[in-house]
Amino acid sequence: MATAHWQLQDNEQRYGSVSRMLHWGMAVILLWQFASALAHWLLEDTAIEQFLWGTHKTVGLLLIVLVIIRGLWSLHNRGHRPPPLNVMAQLGHLVLYGLMVVIPLIGLLRQYGSGREFSPLGLSLMPGFEGEIDWMTAPGVLHSWLGWALLAMIVGHVVMVFVHRRRSADEDVLARMLGERQRE
Ligand code: HEM
Ligand code: HEM
Repeated sequence: MATAHWQLQDNEQRYGSVSRMLHWGMAVILLWQFASALAHWLLEDTAIEQFLWGTHKTVGLLLIVLVIIRGLWSLHNRGHRPPPLNVMAQLGHLVLYGLMVVIPLIGLLRQYGSGREFSPLGLSLMPGFEGEIDWMTAPGVLHSWLGWALLAMIVGHVVMVFVHRRRSADEDVLARMLGERQRE
């Protein structure tokens, strides 16, 4: 029977516990982030929006910190991770990483450039100033578009996981992200 075992580092057969925690932990936090974005878009001026949207910038900051740790961890594990199924899968994962970095970065740049104070959890990260820095706020419009593109990519990613799972010729990639040992 396939069981989950404690193993810190990745190997060729499956992702280790650090990669799995980062993957599933970030998946849940991203879900929350999209819930807040959806509420901002569709439920303006409701109690739900007030509650969820109030967390958007702080959770976004947490996500950029996590994706940097995740990227460094994946580089550290390079050469002994489960190999990508094909070039498209490899490219898809790269694009997911790119968007997970660029979207919050644009959000934070716009925040700084706006000159408005930003104090997540009471920490005075950006004290604010008079005026605006145009080159920092200009790419801000891309934030929402790329955000929705990331959501579409995530849907595609999940669909592909189940496509591979059903195709008997393909490897069951879900098992290696759930931490199950390959059957001997
Ligand atoms: C991975 C992290 C993030 C994701 C996936 C994300 C996603 C989104 C999405 C999809 C929207 C569009 C909502 C709408 O249509 O009303 C949005 C809006 C917004 N986000 Fe983020 N966001 C992230 C991080 C951040 C960060 C770090 C900040 C700032 C510190 C930020 C600030 C904003 C602001 C101010 C808006 C509303 C303004 C606008 O519509 O352009 N976001 N975000
Ligand atoms: C919510 C946002 C998600 C993002 C941004 C994301 C992103 C990624 C990335 C970048 C990888 C490559 C491995 C790594 O470096 O971590 C990966 C692998 C994987 N993801 Fe996700 N993922 C998400 C959600 C999900 C969900 C909900 C599922 C469940 C079906 C899933 C299943 C997998 C599997 C099975 C792999 C391993 C693929 C392989 O070994 O080739 N992911 N994911």
